[in-house]
Amino acid sequence: MSHARVALLISGGGSNMVALVRSMYGTHPARPVLVVSNRADAGGLQLAADLGVPTAVLDHRGFGGDRAAFEVALMDLIDAAQPDIVCLAGFMRILGPEFVAHYAGRLLNIHPSLLPKYRGLDTHARALAACEHEAGCTVHEVTAALDEGPILGQARVPVLPGDTPQTLGARVLAMEHQLYPAVLARFALGERDLVRLEAGDQT
Ligand code: GAR
Repeated sequence: MSHARVALLISGGGSNMVALVRSMYGTHPARPVLVVSNRADAGGLQLAADLGVPTAVLDHRGFGGDRAAFEVALMDLIDAAQPDIVCLAGFMRILGPEFVAHYAGRLLNIHPSLLPKYRGLDTHARALAACEHEAGCTVHEVTAALDEGPILGQARVPVLPGDTPQTLGARVLAMEHQLYPAVLARFALGERDLVRLEAGDQT
């Protein structure tokens, strides 16, 4: 059987990338072919290399604020690996309409909130400030509007008394590591039905 080829984009620690890469073995329908970071100091680069996945760095700062030129170079780099699916995994650059259109229908993102709530940054602090009783994460297809696009999966966790953005973020991140692989495995088979996870679900 031929596997779906997956490119993963990171900017930092890469824990979601690691969870995805580790999930793609055996009967899984996909395989990782490339990890790209826009930051040379992203901790995830070494983790990817340790997992045997080719890595590349494309520093957006080398493009002097020319976002379009950065994205053309990024597309060239990604396309050289001939991916069927591109997973944003903690990639902290907003991508423009041309990039999004180029990967339409095969570009996924994970966001640390229960979308449509809390698009953008500082999601956990904002959820706590709003006295939410639950929080979570969302995997969605990427469209031109920030943190929108068809939702493919959501995982919920409780907000607990005394939570800080850090404690809540850690609880959500643990669920991200379950949700994203669960969605990718289905997506690689062409399944788009919603995946729902709750804290306490078995992996
Ligand atoms: C994750 O919590 C991910 O949901 C978030 O960044 C973190 C990356 O962690 N992404 C966004 O906020 C995207 N807007 P990781 O590098 O350890 O996977």
